[in-house]
Amino acid sequence: MISSYYSPTRVVFGKGAKSEVGKELEKEGAKKVLVHFGGSSAEKSGLLSLVRKSLKEKKIDFVELGGVKPNPRLSLVRKGIEIGKKEGVDFILAVGGGSVIDSAKAIGYGIKECGDVWDFYDGRKEAQNSVPIGVILTLSATGSELSNSSVITNEEGFLKRGYNNDISRPRFAILDPELTYTVSRYQTEVGSIDIMMHTIERFFHSGDGLDFTDELAATLIRDTIEKGLIAIENPDNYQARASLMWASSLSHNGLMALGNDQRGDWACHQLEHELSGMFDIAHGAGLAILFPAWCQYVYKDEPERFAKLGRLVFGIKESGEDGALLTIEKFKQCFREFEMPLSLKEAGIDLSDEMLEELLDKATFYGKRTLGAFKTLEREDMKAIYLLAK
Ligand code: NZQ
Ligand code: ZN
Repeated sequence: MISSYYSPTRVVFGKGAKSEVGKELEKEGAKKVLVHFGGSSAEKSGLLSLVRKSLKEKKIDFVELGGVKPNPRLSLVRKGIEIGKKEGVDFILAVGGGSVIDSAKAIGYGIKECGDVWDFYDGRKEAQNSVPIGVILTLSATGSELSNSSVITNEEGFLKRGYNNDISRPRFAILDPELTYTVSRYQTEVGSIDIMMHTIERFFHSGDGLDFTDELAATLIRDTIEKGLIAIENPDNYQARASLMWASSLSHNGLMALGNDQRGDWACHQLEHELSGMFDIAHGAGLAILFPAWCQYVYKDEPERFAKLGRLVFGIKESGEDGALLTIEKFKQCFREFEMPLSLKEAGIDLSDEMLEELLDKATFYGKRTLGAFKTLEREDMKAIYLLAK
């Protein structure tokens, strides 16, 4: 089994790293930058002022587009593409969390490519080109700062779709942990769950694996639990914020799959994207609801894998089915400590039969795909998992 690891992003890490932005853009030869950001957090913290000042000092021309919402929308992506083409943008600087970075990636494809950018997300076309992207990360969660993925919501039908392409991997990522001191308790919680889940989804692969990679995975998950719980109580604890930030990046750049079957499972993520697309909930909260339901549904296929995860992360001694069940219980307790909902009802979603069918239509691409690799899920399996999560 061959796996590959490609992570071309230059990482600039540590206290004060945000001040390197001008230098990084200069190194990239950026002439006209689109500065892309979200609602108000980057303005309030003074980060945008620093970015503007740094660009002016380096005499780099720029335009701005703010307003990215969590679960980023296609309409703003289209607006960014229009601005980018009109202004001759040759570099995009994403200042924010996963939603801003993902929106920037979509704009990057759209500026360089002809036709409708949604075609990439809808699986109809592959992008050959993209405007290069740089990131100043303000929230540790998705790993988009080093990943090849972006996830966009099309308001027409509230379809949320991901697109993976290595050309969108950022050229640089500025990881300045102090920028995350202002992240709310809730966003820290859902972000920590997302970080863990990117490694957990890779842990549940279907081929042979490498013990070393499993050990790395367990360290990342264990540390994210420990540091996440510290950060929610002490938002300006540097060790906690810095560990979460680095874990966010390493959890989703491919490192945690090298040596294992790289496909991972990803059923929880795919089922979740339909949830957050339709109900606009936080991605990490959707994952906390679905993962225990998925575990309950699939663990009997290979209980030892679950027991191994529990042994490495929580020190569970039991093996086989007992170990698997204890592991699932431990994850539920852990998600509770992160104040997560463990059912759709707890998240305020009263799932009707009609909604369930719509979720299933979307998750199966209207009958065109199955999900998962550890266990392949047909529509009926997906239905059972959504019902277990109800
Ligand atoms: O909009 P502002 O005012 O900036 O507020 C944001 C937003 O409300 C706030 N925030 C960000 N940095 C902050 C801050 N508040 C205070 N201080 C700061 N320093 O946090 C809120 C959530 O931001 P968002 O970017 O939506 O969160 P996250 O980073 O969790 O991104 C979630 C999106 O990424 C997708 C998710 O599906 C979801 O759409 N994902 C992207 C992936 C990828 N590209 O690789 C992988 C993931 O699995 C995920 O699907
Ligand atoms: Zn995720």
